[in-house]
Amino acid sequence: MRTTIDSYKSRAGRLDLEGIDFDDFRDQPLPPDALRTLRYMHDVEHHTVCYLRDLLLTPAHQDPEITSFLSCWVFEEMWHGEAIGRVLEAHGEPAGAPRIAALRHGRRRQQAFTTLSTIVSAAFAGRAFIALHMTWGAVNEWTTQAGYGRLSETAGHPTLRELLRRIMKQEGSHIDFYASEAMRRLGASSRAQHLTRFALSHWWRPVGSGVMPEPEVGFLVKYLFDGPKGAEALARIDRRVDRLPGQNDLHLLTNTVAHLPAA
Ligand SMILES: [Fe+2]
Ligand SMILES: [Fe+2]
Repeated sequence: MRTTIDSYKSRAGRLDLEGIDFDDFRDQPLPPDALRTLRYMHDVEHHTVCYLRDLLLTPAHQDPEITSFLSCWVFEEMWHGEAIGRVLEAHGEPAGAPRIAALRHGRRRQQAFTTLSTIVSAAFAGRAFIALHMTWGAVNEWTTQAGYGRLSETAGHPTLRELLRRIMKQEGSHIDFYASEAMRRLGASSRAQHLTRFALSHWWRPVGSGVMPEPEVGFLVKYLFDGPKGAEALARIDRRVDRLPGQNDLHLLTNTVAHLPAA
C-alpha cells in the first residue's frame, strides 16, 4: 500500500524522550567507539537542514507532497540530533550549536561544491530528478536505520537501546515515504530508472560522506558493518534496492563498502 503524505504527517512529530534518563550515561558511560559513532550521527542528523537547502533548489520544491514531507522530515531529524547531543553532553562532550557551527565553517567549500553539483544534476535530470531523490533518500534512510540498529546491538547499553529504538521508529516512517515514492516514480519512467541506476552506482556513498572527514566515514562503516551481522544488514538493504524498478542486481551497499578506503 502506498504511504500517503497524510499518513506520514499524522505520525510526524518531535522525538518522544519521556522516561529517557540521560544521567544513566554518567553512571554507565558508553565505550569510546560507540561515542565516536554518536558524534558522527549527531553531526549528520543536524546536517539534514543543509541537505534540504540544496534539495529546495531542484524541481523537488515544485511538488507540494514532497515539500510537506521534507518539512516534517527535517524537523524530526533535527530532534534526533538534539537527543544524541544530550548523550554526548552526559559524557562531558560538546554538542549542539557550537559543534555544528564549527563543522559547517570547516566544510564551506565542500558544501558549495555539493550545492552546485545538486543544481547541475537536477537541471540535467529534470522531473526524473525527483525519482532519483526519493530513491537516494530511501537508501540513506535504510542505511541510517540499520546503522542505529547495529550501534544498539554493539553498545549493549539499555538507555541507548531505548533511545535508538524510538529514533529508528521515526526513521521507519521516513523509509515508508521515500521507498513508496521511489517505487511509484521509478515505475512510471524508464528514464528515471536509468538515471537513478547510473547515479547510485557511480555516486552513492554512505550517509555523511562529504560532510564528515573520510577517516570518520571509514571508522563508522567498519565499526557498524564489519563481521557477519554487519554483512547481513548490508545484504538486506541490497535486496530492498533490488526490488525498486530498474535497480536489480546493483549490490549497492556491498560493493560501495568493499571499495571504501581502509579505516
Ligand atoms: Fe534521523
Ligand atoms: Fe530519517
